[in-house]
Amino acid sequence: MTAADFQHPSTCTVHPVQAADLPAVAAIHGHYATRTAACAQEEALPVAWWRRRADELAGLGLPFLVAQLDRRVIGYGLIAPWKPGAVYRHTGEVSMYLDPAWVDHKISQPLFDRLLAEAATAEVHQLIGTVGHWGPGADRAIAAARRWGFTQVDVLPQVIYAHGRWMDLHLLQRQVPHHPKQPE
Ligand SMILES: CC(C)(COP(=O)(O)OP(=O)(O)OC[C@H]1O[C@@H](n2cnc3c(N)ncnc32)[C@H](O)[C@@H]1OP(=O)(O)O)[C@@H](O)C(=O)NCCC(=O)NCCS
Repeated sequence: MTAADFQHPSTCTVHPVQAADLPAVAAIHGHYATRTAACAQEEALPVAWWRRRADELAGLGLPFLVAQLDRRVIGYGLIAPWKPGAVYRHTGEVSMYLDPAWVDHKISQPLFDRLLAEAATAEVHQLIGTVGHWGPGADRAIAAARRWGFTQVDVLPQVIYAHGRWMDLHLLQRQVPHHPKQPE
């Protein structure tokens, strides 16, 4: 199936990442790392790095999911600790990256719905989204995050230097519903 034939995100399935998915995850990340400021790296990361990342998140009970169409990985989403330090233990940062052929097809919605459900299970109370403003793709990411229930809380000017220029970082946040442990 090609992006042009695509009908509805319900045909896309969402699964916990498996070792066999990691080369596709690394390729998707590498596309954005080398061309945009959508991620924190300017270079692609090796599959071994992604294997360690998957193990780290599994050890913390945090979700790392892939979206598949016809058994092909077309995107991934994960929740990582927002900052180091015990006081931030109930705050997670969402990252989501789709194969560029599949952006703007609402694929992100089922992936985000599952991340949100798993965030509650992992006792995440607040979710942070950070979007580096590198171009129109960043406006798409901000629009998608608003649809997922995030509110923009701030813009940090020129905290990113990537691919030879300064960029602003948009900070977004939403609460996770039904968190079993309320903050004291
Ligand atoms: C961000 C991303 C995960 C969103 O997933 P998606 O499935 O493409 O998003 P959707 O199709 O659900 O929604 C895209 C929204 O952006 C809007 N949009 C598209 N292009 C836009 C643009 N240039 N400017 C503003 N809004 C735009 C669409 O209208 C839609 O908004 P709506 O839901 O209000 O109609 C995906 O586009 C992606 O992987 N982007 C590249 C990586 C990235 O930037 N990740 C975010 C950093 S964590």
